[in-house]
Amino acid sequence: MSLNSFGHLFRVTTWGESHGPALGATVDGCPPGVAIDEGMLQHWLDRRKPGQSKFTTQRREADAVEILSGVFEGQTTGTPVQLMIRNTDQRSKDYGDIAEKFRPGHADITYWQKYGIRDYRGGGRSSARETAARVAAGGIARAALATLAPGLRITGYMVQMGAQGIDRARFDWDEIGNNPFWAPDAQAAAHWATDLDELRKSGNSVGAVVEVTARGVPAGLGAPVYGKLDTDLAAAMMSINAVKGVEIGEGMAAATLTGVENADEIFMGNDGQPVYSSNHAGGILGGISTGQDVVVRFAVKPTSSILTPRRTITRSGETSEIVTKGRHDPCVGIRAVPVGEAMMACVLLDHILLHRGQVGENRGKIG
Ligand SMILES: Cc1cc2nc3c(=O)[nH]c(=O)nc-3n(C[C@H](O)[C@H](O)[C@H](O)COP(=O)(O)O)c2cc1C
Repeated sequence: MSLNSFGHLFRVTTWGESHGPALGATVDGCPPGVAIDEGMLQHWLDRRKPGQSKFTTQRREADAVEILSGVFEGQTTGTPVQLMIRNTDQRSKDYGDIAEKFRPGHADITYWQKYGIRDYRGGGRSSARETAARVAAGGIARAALATLAPGLRITGYMVQMGAQGIDRARFDWDEIGNNPFWAPDAQAAAHWATDLDELRKSGNSVGAVVEVTARGVPAGLGAPVYGKLDTDLAAAMMSINAVKGVEIGEGMAAATLTGVENADEIFMGNDGQPVYSSNHAGGILGGISTGQDVVVRFAVKPTSSILTPRRTITRSGETSEIVTKGRHDPCVGIRAVPVGEAMMACVLLDHILLHRGQVGENRGKIG
């Protein structure tokens, strides 16, 4: 069974566990001749890496990526690219308790029910350490996109922490890298910092909403019915640990609009390309990109490993209580931002390759 892979032509398979010697990704289907080196991939991994502020887990992982195959003289060869990241800062003794008890809200109980065996150290395969491998694969996708779709820019940011959203009127792309929350609103980031500090100290955690926007996406990516771009994006984002909801464009709120309000009216632009009055569709119609920004949002639940005691049961079915020690993210939404970006990059590259395969340069012209 191949349940650790995603993508059609640009196919990523991840492997490894939190407290094993290493984890990584096998990236198959990358076009040849894409300039890649470890430093380029490291740039993206450093954005996800733990311990970068007091608002993320204090696990100290270098997340140093090694390229084991598929790259020769600085370029992809078209053969599988094997990426490996060694685990260097495991503290398995922190996880003694979860060998016997199931953390409420974590995957301990379902892994046990399904397999009857589990590597409980750090959550094993269910640990979000796995997402480091996706970010490395996303780095390869970004490098390929730079040549196949120049001008395409993928940016992730947090738009909500707990019940507090950003003020869209203060949205500033340049602010995103300036605060530990990847927030486009400096004021919201300042409020979140105070709130999260209090929550963290009280042994609690909080959820978040992350938005990922791809600007400069060519029109025509995606296919009708089962090959919809939005279907693949939703699946990709939903596969990220702790994600419980995904929206494209207006998302759930579209249900509250009328047809008049929701219509993205179409005009002819000066450069001969269509322009739209709004983007309720999130850049996708009929499963196919319109050329507008592709906008995806996902809801991340609060971290389940918390210091506040929670009731649970043991493997033998006894009533118990659990306090999850170890080093955990008080708001996993923060480190999910670069992961969402990586998934967007992988899906868009996959659809560009699919489009080239089926349609080539043939496109319906307007005007
Ligand atoms: C970047 C990132 C970091 C995470 N860090 C933690 C963590 O420190 N502690 C924890 O209990 N869960 C953490 N999670 C969430 C768990 O991995 C996730 O809840 C678990 O695998 C169960 O899967 P589910 O929540 O998707 O059902 C993190 C998730 C992401 C995306």
